[in-house]
Amino acid sequence: MKFLVILASIAVAVQAQASTSPISPVPHNLLWPRPQQFTNGTTDYSVDPHSLKFNLKFSQIANGNDVVIRKAVNRLKDAALKIGCPATGTAAITQVFVSVTGIDPTDLAQADESYTLVTDATSVTITAKNTVGALHGLQTLTQLIKPNERIPFHVETNTAGCQKAARVGIKTGFVIPSGPWSISDSPSYSWRGVSLDTSRNYIPVSSILRTLDGMAATKLNILHWHLVDATAFPVVSKTYPELRSSAYSPLSIYTYTDVQEIIAYAADLGIRVIPEFDTPAHTYSLSFAKELAPFVLCPNGGAGGTNSFWPTCPEPPCGNVNVADPGAAPAIAKLLKEYAGLFADSVLHLGGDEIENYCLNVSPQFTDIAFGKGNPVPATGTAAWSAGLATVYQSYIDTLLETTSAAGKQTMHWEDIVLNDGVVLPNNTIIQVWNSWDNTVSKNSLQKALALDRYQIVDTNSEYYYLDGGSGAWLTDRGFGPGGNSWEEAYWIPYIDWERIYTHDPRTSPIENTTDTTGSGYSTINGVIQVPTGNLQSIIGAEAAIWGERIGDSNLDTKLWPRAACAAEALWSADSFPTPSNKDFFEALPRLQVFRDRLISQGFGAEVLQPAWCLTNQCSAAFSGYPSNLAYGNEKPTYW
Ligand SMILES: *[C@@H]1O[C@H](CO)[C@@H](O)[C@H](O)[C@H]1NC(C)=O
Ligand SMILES: *[C@@H]1O[C@H](CO)[C@@H](O)[C@H](O)[C@H]1NC(C)=O
Ligand SMILES: *[C@@H]1O[C@H](CO)[C@@H](O)[C@H](O)[C@H]1NC(C)=O
Repeated sequence: MKFLVILASIAVAVQAQASTSPISPVPHNLLWPRPQQFTNGTTDYSVDPHSLKFNLKFSQIANGNDVVIRKAVNRLKDAALKIGCPATGTAAITQVFVSVTGIDPTDLAQADESYTLVTDATSVTITAKNTVGALHGLQTLTQLIKPNERIPFHVETNTAGCQKAARVGIKTGFVIPSGPWSISDSPSYSWRGVSLDTSRNYIPVSSILRTLDGMAATKLNILHWHLVDATAFPVVSKTYPELRSSAYSPLSIYTYTDVQEIIAYAADLGIRVIPEFDTPAHTYSLSFAKELAPFVLCPNGGAGGTNSFWPTCPEPPCGNVNVADPGAAPAIAKLLKEYAGLFADSVLHLGGDEIENYCLNVSPQFTDIAFGKGNPVPATGTAAWSAGLATVYQSYIDTLLETTSAAGKQTMHWEDIVLNDGVVLPNNTIIQVWNSWDNTVSKNSLQKALALDRYQIVDTNSEYYYLDGGSGAWLTDRGFGPGGNSWEEAYWIPYIDWERIYTHDPRTSPIENTTDTTGSGYSTINGVIQVPTGNLQSIIGAEAAIWGERIGDSNLDTKLWPRAACAAEALWSADSFPTPSNKDFFEALPRLQVFRDRLISQGFGAEVLQPAWCLTNQCSAAFSGYPSNLAYGNEKPTYW
């Protein structure tokens, strides 16, 4: 989590503005994310998913890429047969040709995700340079297969269910409608992630695998696994076996086998797994290992003689590694070395958020080394204190980076380390930006990170991408924080509507001014609305985050789906929108509904978007003021 004390209401209406040219409709609202380029015809071609013959062609079979595609083919057949019932008789389209023309890089980060998909009267051809592109093409094909009539979700599409459906006259069979199709597709952003917290509540392996399935369905390609935090260290360590005793039960812990299963499952879907080992803050759980405990200051709050977590850290428990102690970094580095071996991806996330200044400053173990024993300790916030911190923190992180770099890893960090703590990281390091609540241009974290002009940036702006919000606070400490009652909704992120997530484009969205509730709601200078400036291509993408304070197996799907898919389309398809930060909700909603329905058919507990009445009636544009030049305002949706 990133704890935000939100003092003012942050609800800002995203202004509906007229877009200049309507975006081309996707027939039957079938595709999510929408392809960058496509043409379609007007003929429906019957298809029988079960008996489709797949012809696979590889320029090189290596690392099981043929097996990966075969598994994807099985998933495609399975998914189709969950939304409709097969028909008897011969179908028009009987063959699928899948061709991978290039040689896959060993590092998925280097893979080419583009693909083309062409249909004719009898076949479908998917062509991609790399296997991951072919996987995306197969997801698109999955979505092009439409049941002639959808079976309601409460009826299973097994033999009995299909007989029941036939008795009441529901049409069987499938088509690829509005063919022939020609699709040419590739992502606008290379980093399209979900950040999943498994420390504040344990998430079972099966739920992580299901999450990966949902991600693949909407072409998300990064699972940022916020594996550990102050609350628990729920992964086996061979270096420090005692860490396991911080888990909520001996069974609420990921074994090496679990981790390997998750990584392998993700790899089959073309998804990278990036683990986060957050230090120096958020580290109470590290104190369970006797070798690490001496380096963890203020493990459970109480700094300076207070009897609470506050003001040591934003939420209990606390814990901040003493970055000044020369023994700390080598001890932590051993842990990183272990996990650099377990996690195959080329990127390792080292956290670095919310350093506990107050804790450090009242801990003689820190101040004696950072400022010299007997010397006066400067107050936090002064230049002298910041300079002292920056020096010792730099040396701490440099030691960690020696280890990660020897293990061949690139690192990723929360913005705090470079924007607040004065640490300089190697050029092209990935910086993940989450702060947004101070939205003046000079203080906007994204803009500040851009201004450094040396890092790659991943946006996780809490006001667009924190999907766990809306459940209210969980602390019941009256008076916590400046000014109030922690259970009030405003202490935590409110529920973020799908439209808000969908409209956000990290490179082009205007910078909001959340204190401006009467004007445009945007940050302005001399009346001009401010947008991010600098090398916008260094913003490589974004992540939707699901922090774990109030998330468990029971509500993970509801919070994540379908809203994570809104981030997915905003990131994948950005270049296909006339104005990426000003999209047509009326065009998007029916497609999102279809995508959500597919998730439901796969067993996801995805949230309901609208009354079922809206599937056959116009619900969206009944209000006055709907821009007349938008194409979809007055049309009845055409779904399945
Ligand atoms: C694409 O499909 C839609 C819906 O079936 C149809 O209205 C449109 O005419 C098709 N486009 C072309 C170029 O045939
Ligand atoms: C890193 O980036 C900065 C800012 O763009 C630049 O001044 C510096 O030369 C770069 N360093 C290296 C080693 O490329
Ligand atoms: C944000 O809005 C407030 C209230 O209207 C205004 O005082 C402030 O100058 C605005 N800041 C920016 C950067 O636009």
